[in-house]
Amino acid sequence: MQRAVITGWGSCVPDAVLSNSDLESRLDTSDDWITTRTGIKERRIADATTGEIATVAARHALAAAGLQGSEIDMIVVATCTPDRLIPAVATVVQKEIGATGASAFDVNAACAGFAYGAAVGTSAIESGLAKRILVIGADRLSAWLDFEDRSTAVLFGDGAGAVVLEASDDLGASAPGVLSVDIGANGEFGEQLTVPGSGLEVHPPDKMVAITMDGREVFRQAVVVMGEIAAKVTESAGLELGDIDLLIPHQANSRIIDATARRLDLDPRRVFVNIHSYGNTSSASIPIALTEALEQGRIDPGGHIVFVAFGGGFSWGALAVRWGDRVHPLAKSDASLPPSTRTALEIMESNQV
Ligand code: ACO
Repeated sequence: MQRAVITGWGSCVPDAVLSNSDLESRLDTSDDWITTRTGIKERRIADATTGEIATVAARHALAAAGLQGSEIDMIVVATCTPDRLIPAVATVVQKEIGATGASAFDVNAACAGFAYGAAVGTSAIESGLAKRILVIGADRLSAWLDFEDRSTAVLFGDGAGAVVLEASDDLGASAPGVLSVDIGANGEFGEQLTVPGSGLEVHPPDKMVAITMDGREVFRQAVVVMGEIAAKVTESAGLELGDIDLLIPHQANSRIIDATARRLDLDPRRVFVNIHSYGNTSSASIPIALTEALEQGRIDPGGHIVFVAFGGGFSWGALAVRWGDRVHPLAKSDASLPPSTRTALEIMESNQV
């Protein structure tokens, strides 16, 4: 068996910033409500496709790993906001980066998507199916928001993040790599976080199609499940909770993150939070957070990292990882999104039917 090691990382956050005060000008809400209930101060809005933001993140991750697209043999894009039903976003990325020998497919586990994608990538390496995998989380939930609905419009932002997983023969006691994975779901709660009338359910849509959410139910379950599965992967990895050097949770709500940290008895300094800058970017939030954690020197060689996520479905996932020796990118890419002059408010308005 081989082990999956994260050797590259990168992100793409669009330039257009939607601040709480922008939302105050449009909705019956306030900076104070949003900040105290969610921790969010601003979020980014993409004037680009999901394929484009995924590709930029992928190029940064490839550069960090010192690889060319042609060296990748599998691309997994976690997204619940593909540009089209067919083709998969992963095949768009494949074409753009020239990964001609790679398999490419999308997974949809809403906000838990990156954990699912990383779990699939890890298994593909452990089984010998692939050796160098791009796992990308890319979402553009701004396109599926009803700008009149203050209970959802304030929460979400757009972005993408990516990692490169590479196969390693080193299975030693202190060897780096993904040590354990857990994923799960409970379809009984499908209606609590959904986009009714999307897909082929109502075709063509006869009214605005937008995300709806029973926020209290998501909150109630997320705080329990995220703590439980983070503890489970830590134990499966042969670690104690005290061994966790950095928890990187899905960034949905700072109160969910705080509650998860309390359940794990983790000092807040060992929990990465950037929700104030980006809101909930769904499957992109963990790889964006990982990239920032590395840029900020929050990850040391050999450090133990736990990723944990919860989202629509309901679905959830966690991974325990021992970091390798390298905490800096091998190279940097100058990849960026196509230029746009539109403000975040203008992009949001144009998404409304
Ligand atoms: N501004 C001002 N007031 C608001 C807003 C707003 N943006 N939104 C709701 N309110 C009001 C409500 O109308 C309600 O008013 P009322 O008491 O007069 O009826 C009051 O604030 C409280 O509303 P609650 O829904 O009870 O607020 P709560 O404290 O639960 O916070 C929130 C809502 C932020 C959505 C929270 O429940 C939450 O974060 N839930 C989890 C969301 C999540 O984790 N999603 C992740 C998955 S997403 C995915 O998978 C794609």
